[in-house]
This record gives sequence, C-alpha cells and structure tokens, in this order.
Amino acid sequence: MPKLKGSKKATQFTESVIREMTRLNQLHGGVNLSQGFPDFPAPSMVKDAACAAIQADVNQYAVTWGAAPLREAIAREFTRRFGVAVTPDEQVTVCCGATEAMMATMMAVIDPGDEVVIFEPFYENYGPDAILSGATPRYVTLHEPDWTFDPDDLAAAFTDRTKAIILNTPNNPTGKVFTRQELGTIAALCRKWDVIAISDEIYEHIIYDGCEHVPIASVDGMSDRTVTINSLSKTYSVTGWRVGWTISPASLTGAIRKVHDFLTVGAAAPLQEAGVVALAVPDSYYADLAAAYRRRRDMLLDILERRHFTCYKPHGAYYIMTDISGFGFRDDVEFARYLVKDVGVAAVPGSSFYREGAGGRTKLRFCFCKRNETLAEADRRMAKLVIPAAARVH
Ligand SMILES: Cc1ncc(COP(=O)(O)O)c(C=O)c1O
Repeated sequence: MPKLKGSKKATQFTESVIREMTRLNQLHGGVNLSQGFPDFPAPSMVKDAACAAIQADVNQYAVTWGAAPLREAIAREFTRRFGVAVTPDEQVTVCCGATEAMMATMMAVIDPGDEVVIFEPFYENYGPDAILSGATPRYVTLHEPDWTFDPDDLAAAFTDRTKAIILNTPNNPTGKVFTRQELGTIAALCRKWDVIAISDEIYEHIIYDGCEHVPIASVDGMSDRTVTINSLSKTYSVTGWRVGWTISPASLTGAIRKVHDFLTVGAAAPLQEAGVVALAVPDSYYADLAAAYRRRRDMLLDILERRHFTCYKPHGAYYIMTDISGFGFRDDVEFARYLVKDVGVAAVPGSSFYREGAGGRTKLRFCFCKRNETLAEADRRMAKLVIPAAARVH
C-alpha cells in the first residue's frame, strides 16, 4: 500500500470534537446534549413547502448564488427588521448553510498572512476556517462570567495586517448577546483600521431576558464593511437542510459568489423554495420560538445546577457553558468521556472552543434544543454522576 499524505493544512486541525461526541453518544446510547440540533419536528408549513417544491419538479440546479425569490425574501426581511437597505441581486448569496457561507467569505476576502480577530471562546469552525483560508488568527478573550471583552485588548489586536473580525451574536458557546455599545467599540476599530466585520447571526431569533439582537451591519458606517451570515438551520429547526446565506457589500459579493460556485455550485433548489415560505412567517413565530427556548433554558439550568454544575446563564442561542472544576476530573475531555460512557449524557468539552492550553479545560457545553422529555431523561441519568468533593456532606 502506498503511504499517502494529506496536505499540511489538513494536519493543522483535528476532527470536530462536537461531531465526535455525537458519534460516541450513538455508540453508548446516550442522551445527546452535545451537537446543537433539535430533536423535535420542524414547522409543518416549511416541510410542506419543501415537499411541494419537489413535487413541482424544482429539482435541478438553482441559480448558483441562490434562487431569486429566496434572495429577495432575505433582503426584504433584513431591511424590514433592521432598516438596512439590501439589494438582492448585488448583495445576497445563498450557500450550503452558514458553514459554507463563512468558509466562502473567508476564502473570498483573506490572503495568506492576513490577520483575523476572533473572540475566544469561539464556535469551533472558526479555527479551521482561518487555517484553510490562510488567515493568522488574533484571539481576544471574552471574560467570564459575563463574557465581556476588555476594549484595550481588542484595540491591541488590530494592526495594519488585520483584514477581518469574526463576530457571533447571539454567541455559541457562551450565550452572550453583544450590546449596541460593544458593537460600537468594535465598529470604531473596523473603521479605523479599514477592517471587514464577518458576523455570524444564526441565533438572531433565539434570545432571552429582553436582550436585543443588533446586527453590526446596522451600526453607523458598517453596512458597507460587513458580511452578515445567517441560515435556516436554527430559526426553522432544519439543520439538515443546509441552506444559509451571506449579505455582503456589493464590492465583495462577486468574490464570495465565485468561491461559493466552485465549492458547491449551490444549495438544494427545493429547499430554497421552502426558505421563501419560512422567511414569510409572522413575527409571532419568532416570539414563540424564543419563548419555547427560554423555557428549555430554564429547565436545563435547573437540572445542571441541581447536579452541581456551575452554570453561566445564556441570554441567547441554545447552549449552556458550565464550569466542571469542582468534579475533580483531570480535564474536560476526561469528564466528557466519563459523562457519555458511564452516565449516558453527551456534552462538548470546553477545549473545543478555546486555543490549546486556554480556559477550556475546566468547561463543558450542554445544548438545550431538545424536547422536555429528552432533558428530563438527561436529568434522570445524571443522578449517577459523581458528586463534586466540595458538595459532599462529610
Ligand atoms: C455559531 C454557529 N454558526 C454556524 C453554525 C452552522 O450553521 P449551518 O447549519 O447553517 O451551517 C452553527 C451550528 O451549530 C453555529 O453554532
């Protein structure tokens, strides 16, 4: 057998730990609170629209940058909600999920050696995205418990080599919702250093406690230097459909579309038709979605606190970051393996969201995009959990 070698790029990052936890969970028949996908049905009208599109033979390639009705719906909704004008023909590109939208954007705007500012902890894809696009990441810490950043640290991360900053609000894994003031600080630096904001807003509708989602594209002077990334995945509970998009300044759209075309040609045509129906739901749908997730959040917070986890209460998205240092395990990976094998609950080791050696070793992330029964079953299983030394009654 010839000994074949992969590329240097591919050796610089590991397999996704989140998806590995899902596989381990299947092996051990656990309750999967690791990978963020709902275990309840998607809305009927969205599913019906997809079936109808297939029956109507919308089964061939859509226009590579996205079917016109979907691009129009994306532009219309962004303008309606945030007052930012968007021209679908010049600014919207439909991709295979926010995942491809982020990769296509990074490949379209980054030259090898360009620096990209990333807040840490970060959604795990941003590391490999940076490596694959040749970017040099500059990390800025979000400090627990509120996941705030020090404006001086952020300012120090910008140089004349900085090409872009990656934002994610509401944030995975922390549940942080960036405030208008924080976004103003970021925007001022982007303007000063002529930097592009790439903003992943996939959890925009999953938001609690009266927090407001502010797209950085709506901050003064930012609409012409922001690529906003979003997707059907989380808002309409269809993570398997792989339909996402970018809204970019017209000057960047051509580059994003070229990369997107040669990566994937396009997203599934019938599911784009269903996306048009999804984007036309009344605002009550989004209010109900957020309210249902708030109830699930409160349920999982209660479970985890009773089971001796220290929780960081999220204000958006559908994850809870926890501190596990009290359990006395060597690190997060050892604890996550114990939890899935011996207790039957899968969660994600914190180190997936941090650079090597940074704060992740004491953390574990749980998701709550699950039915009540699933969360209740996780609770029952966690009765087996070793009680941390500090909580034991001697
Ligand atoms: C912050 C963030 N961005 C992107 C994605 C992936 O989105 P998509 O399913 O649209 O590719 C996820 C999925 O968990 C996520 O948490």
